[in-house]
Amino acid sequence: MNQNNVFYKSEGDQWFKRNEAVLLFRNQNYDWPIKLIRKHKIKPQKVLEIGAANGWRLAEIKKLYGRTRCVGVEPSAKAVWAGRRNFPQIKMLRGLSSDLPVKGTFDLVIVNYVLHWVDRALLFKTFSEIDRVLADDGYLIVSDFYPSVATSNLYHHIRGGKVRTYKQNYAEVFTMSVIYKELEKVIFDHSTKQSKKISPSDETGFAVLLKKSLRNHYKTGKRK
Ligand SMILES: C[S@@+](CC[C@H](N)C(=O)[O-])C[C@H]1O[C@@H](n2cnc3c(N)ncnc32)[C@H](O)[C@@H]1O
Repeated sequence: MNQNNVFYKSEGDQWFKRNEAVLLFRNQNYDWPIKLIRKHKIKPQKVLEIGAANGWRLAEIKKLYGRTRCVGVEPSAKAVWAGRRNFPQIKMLRGLSSDLPVKGTFDLVIVNYVLHWVDRALLFKTFSEIDRVLADDGYLIVSDFYPSVATSNLYHHIRGGKVRTYKQNYAEVFTMSVIYKELEKVIFDHSTKQSKKISPSDETGFAVLLKKSLRNHYKTGKRK
């Protein structure tokens, strides 16, 4: 079974059971994606969060921008039910990053601490899905671990070495395309979420705000 299906069938629920109580205390004051949205004065009309857990972040975004349509995609059935119960103002859908159950486009897509669990065979499918659902001129926020070298570790909650955590700078694949431009990157201490002038390590995380534009990031050349 690929790693995405492991999360869909069981581990998403297990993660949610272990973290449900902690999620109750999460709010916008400590959240780098929301801080970036506010700092850059982005007023999104339609937001999609991939791997949204119970949708707590979308509920906070909805508090800030009442008219915004918020959709969360999450493999854990338990997290999706909890989101539908606790935050009826947002739409929660069960699904995976590699096959997003949404049509149309969003002007803001958030993927926060999810890509490290995506099966390596489905990573480019995930990038392609993110690009499919993000509108031209839309914003993408990617946040995850920020090690000094790309590192994979055994996921200790599952025995047998079938699931691994892959830590790397996931924003690079987008910026390499030129279609995505980095507007701001924050590096922070993974546990305290305090931002510092620190170098990448096992203890650091990053959050990047990217702007998508199919045309505007190119210098116009003179030749035909
Ligand atoms: C560390 S949690 C982060 C939750 C949420 N993004 C947040 O910032 O609070 C990772 C979440 O990603 C989900 N997940 C794992 N693999 C996924 C995949 N392939 N596609 C979408 N979500 C996934 C997990 O079920 C879990 O809810």
